[in-house]
Amino acid sequence: MTTDTDSHSVRPAARLRGEVAVPGDKSISHRALIFNALARGRARVDGFLASEDTESTINCLRLLGANIQQQPDGSVIVEGNGRAALHEASDVLDCGNSGTTMRLLAGLVAGLPGLAVLTGDETLRRRAMARIVRPLNELGARVTARAEGTLPPLVIQGGPIAGGQSFSPPMASAQVKSAILLAGLAADGPTTVVESAPTRDHTERLLAAMGATFQVSGSAVTITPPQGDLTAVDVRVPGDISTAAAWLVAATVHPDAELLLTGVGINPTRSGILDVLREMGADIELTEERTVGGEPVADLLVRSAPLHGIEISDPDLMPRMIDELPLAALAGALASGETVIRNAQELRVKESDRVATTAASLRAFGVDLEERDDGFRITGGATLHAASVDSAGDHRLAILGAVAGLLAQGETRVNGADVVAVSYPAFWSDLDRLSQD
Ligand code: S3P
Repeated sequence: MTTDTDSHSVRPAARLRGEVAVPGDKSISHRALIFNALARGRARVDGFLASEDTESTINCLRLLGANIQQQPDGSVIVEGNGRAALHEASDVLDCGNSGTTMRLLAGLVAGLPGLAVLTGDETLRRRAMARIVRPLNELGARVTARAEGTLPPLVIQGGPIAGGQSFSPPMASAQVKSAILLAGLAADGPTTVVESAPTRDHTERLLAAMGATFQVSGSAVTITPPQGDLTAVDVRVPGDISTAAAWLVAATVHPDAELLLTGVGINPTRSGILDVLREMGADIELTEERTVGGEPVADLLVRSAPLHGIEISDPDLMPRMIDELPLAALAGALASGETVIRNAQELRVKESDRVATTAASLRAFGVDLEERDDGFRITGGATLHAASVDSAGDHRLAILGAVAGLLAQGETRVNGADVVAVSYPAFWSDLDRLSQD
């Protein structure tokens, strides 16, 4: 993991040119492993994102008895023998930096007999867990957590899961939804999640392909477990739009850029950044639209374009671009006029408090912005000057600092730079490759 001493320098690029085969989607990579580990049969996962976060998931699943082999070509084979083949882990489940690993595995182990202890790194141990502790307890697991049930480590005694329940999480969170649906898979009847706003639906798409039945009615999604085990399915993981977003924003705000991003997942529950950048004036062309592994995919051609500020506040939009909001704030700083981001309070409980850390980072580059409880007011037209910025142990913040550094005058330093390995291990080498003098 990141040390306090690792840092990376970024110089402004005269031009951005080239092609990026966008690395596999992190959310789908986690799910392809977890669901297939629970299923019966042999599944091959292609386009898998090899990263620190997904490595955490692999390690935890192996401790639970899953048979997972990483192949030399980057694919992963999961050999499942059904739920009954998973067992109590003989050690704590270390989820590293990964909130998705912790929350989804909490849902999984809630429905397995035995005791599980889930912990993580210093950052993950500060993240909000009451949101899954409460529903999993109501479903029949016995879940306790540090700080009166709010923070990791989590201790989960799996138990029979009671079907027929409905949950309405106050926050729009795909991780919370997925934890409940995973526990619901072990139930003796249907389980419903009513969402306050639609969140990424990779769990529903993949579990449906594996034999679970979903009924969607307005904002309510109900899972009916299959008779017997899930059936293993091969997964082709599309490129991660959250990763692509770095290049979408960099190329848009850079004065001389043209980048082709290939194989990017454009699932409508994830594509808010495309809508927002286009509304601001971005030039992004979608080509080769196709379906990969049950998910819509396209190549994205993005060129420099002048942007104008907008308001980003629709509650239904926020979950569609939650991880891209720091980059959207940077786009706002380089647009004409003002950009306002509201209803983004969930940003405060990510790998860092991303309202505070984004504000600190952009200010260091000379951006004039006001931090609000649930977002920012950003004065556009900024001229960025080089800065020394800290990732705060947050991969998205390290990438934000690097993209801003590409546009800033002088040499920028991103401290805590190695944390990009959480979601995008090749980030620094791709940055060098795409930057031309
Ligand atoms: C994720 C859901 C989102 C997102 C995270 C990945 C997922 O988190 O920010 O990076 O894979 O389900 P929340 O569920 O906390 O919104």
